[in-house]
Amino acid sequence: MGWTITSSTQLMEAVYDMKSKLAQKIGVKEGLTIVDIGCGPGPDHPPSFTVCLAELVGEKGRVLGIDISDENVGDFLDEAKRFGVEGRVDFVKGDAVNLIGIIEDNFADMIVSYRFLEEFMRPKELSKVIKEMVRIVKPGGKVCIMELSTQTENEAEEIFISLHKDWGDSFFDSREIAQQLRRNGLVNVQIETSESDIWYSPSVAEKDFWKEFREEIITKLGALTKKYGMKYPPIFIVSGHKLTS
Ligand SMILES: C[S@@+](CC[C@H](N)C(=O)[O-])C[C@H]1O[C@@H](n2cnc3c(N)ncnc32)[C@H](O)[C@@H]1O
Repeated sequence: MGWTITSSTQLMEAVYDMKSKLAQKIGVKEGLTIVDIGCGPGPDHPPSFTVCLAELVGEKGRVLGIDISDENVGDFLDEAKRFGVEGRVDFVKGDAVNLIGIIEDNFADMIVSYRFLEEFMRPKELSKVIKEMVRIVKPGGKVCIMELSTQTENEAEEIFISLHKDWGDSFFDSREIAQQLRRNGLVNVQIETSESDIWYSPSVAEKDFWKEFREEIITKLGALTKKYGMKYPPIFIVSGHKLTS
């Protein structure tokens, strides 16, 4: 098995590289103002998507991170400093279903989210999230939602998804998200997939198992992981543009 990732450092670098390429693929460019919904990174994670956005928008751009929790805001801001992008990144605590009073209408060139919906535990309120995204993007601007694809193609990807399903993460159907974007008036709505080449060796995969449930996960997935390792699944990208009135 050709595992590409055999250490935690390599994993961090590979995920960082994957996120940066994804940000380029969706069209992040110098000078843009971007809102990143569900930006919270968590303390031990690779650089957040927000950092990758901030590197690409450059000194004239701006990235506003929104998260319902400010538990990790210290890490988030420290990380921005570490990557030299602190002057262009702000954080505001807010619930994605209602950002009125926090972000004005037509505020940003792009509204993005990267693996936010997997931790959004109110599936019936997806339409409210999309409505808010559409409200705060400028006419002509782009809304872009990126999530893990559950259309797995091998056992190593299946292990990654199974781990997240057991953890209680939500998995939304990309077609449902696309339909909601159209219903809210966005045009050129597209669904794309972006592959990763991040194949965790068995030992790196096991290090990624959550401490609290380690024994339980090893009982369920340990033998499979030893055989196949684990793979970061493809990311689906659902995007659409707001009409220029
Ligand atoms: C998997 S993390 C996001 C990962 C991050 N975007 C990255 O670059 O790796 C999901 C985040 O969504 C946030 N979240 C969950 N529900 C939310 C809501 N209703 N509004 C805003 N943020 C929310 C969580 O607090 C968490 O920080």
